[in-house]
Amino acid sequence: MARTICIANQKGGVGKTTTSVNLASSLAELGRRVLIVDMDPQGNASSGLGVKRYDNQENNIYQVLIGEKSLKDVAQSTNTQSLCIASANPDLVGAEIELVDMPHREYRLRQAIESVSNEFDYVLIDCPPSLGLLTVNSLCAADSFMVPLQCEYYALEGLSQLLNTCGLIKKSLNPALRIEGIVLTMFDTRNNLSHQVVAEIQSHFGDKVFKSIIPRNVRLSEAPSHGQSILDYDSKSIGARKYRELAEELDQRVYGSAQEESAPAENPITPQEAPKAEGEMTLKEEGSSLTQPQSSQESPVEGEAHV
Ligand SMILES: Nc1ncnc2c1ncn2[C@@H]1O[C@H](COP(=O)(O)OP(=O)(O)OP(=O)(O)O)[C@@H](O)[C@H]1O
Ligand SMILES: [Mg+2]
Repeated sequence: MARTICIANQKGGVGKTTTSVNLASSLAELGRRVLIVDMDPQGNASSGLGVKRYDNQENNIYQVLIGEKSLKDVAQSTNTQSLCIASANPDLVGAEIELVDMPHREYRLRQAIESVSNEFDYVLIDCPPSLGLLTVNSLCAADSFMVPLQCEYYALEGLSQLLNTCGLIKKSLNPALRIEGIVLTMFDTRNNLSHQVVAEIQSHFGDKVFKSIIPRNVRLSEAPSHGQSILDYDSKSIGARKYRELAEELDQRVYGSAQEESAPAENPITPQEAPKAEGEMTLKEEGSSLTQPQSSQESPVEGEAHV
């Protein structure tokens, strides 16, 4: 059974797609079988992995969601070994509307993923920057969700809304849903604010924040225009190194150490890594704990971020 992880944040441009593509490629490099499901009509994960728009008109995730095709038909291989993608194109915009009247509308993606789950170790879902039915389908299909947060002043803006939504979905549609972790992206070492944001987020979320922090790296922003992951585009760049680190950290959490190649652990979170009270409360109490920063109001992040 694959671990299905939804990469979500309704805030735009925070690094969801960059993380989906490069984390997936790094997991594949570790020898894992990985499927990326592109749930964003912008299709950035698809083009970022070299899928041409005219190539996927008959085979894309829209057709899976409306029941015309199976996910197995639509998933295609990429230049990276053991990495497949179910691609998206702008047709997917229509799914938000068409799904409304369909039976099991929140579970269309879940049903599709269940049918291929045995063929992958990971399914990563790249979400659009919204909390509409496409994201709801993604969260209903997922075992867990990962939240990329940009290391900038308004990083936490909208986070409580996202966590509220996840809390509601956990309560009513997908009780097993949990937070996989927060990935800090676009970290700028020279910028004091970046350091403050990291400290702030770590103090709120503790172990739920991945230790691997993704720096701002121009090679990461160039890679998609070549239809390549960072590992293919510039394997020695700092961006490639950090996404590899992130993949190892995640894989360690999910499957244990690389030496112990095995099925996923029964409880993939070790005691030390168990969610801090606030991480748990976040889901149970629909993000309420996050609306009140714990420390003083002096930090510009706390003061202005409307967490
Ligand atoms: N670590 C990074 N360093 C430099 N540029 C980055 C980094 N991460 C992402 N980018 C660039 O920032 C932009 C936004 O990133 P990305 O597309 O991954 O965000 P997103 O959250 O998926 O956006 P959207 O909400 O529109 O789907 C892109 O141009 C991407 O190349
Ligand atoms: Mg994106």
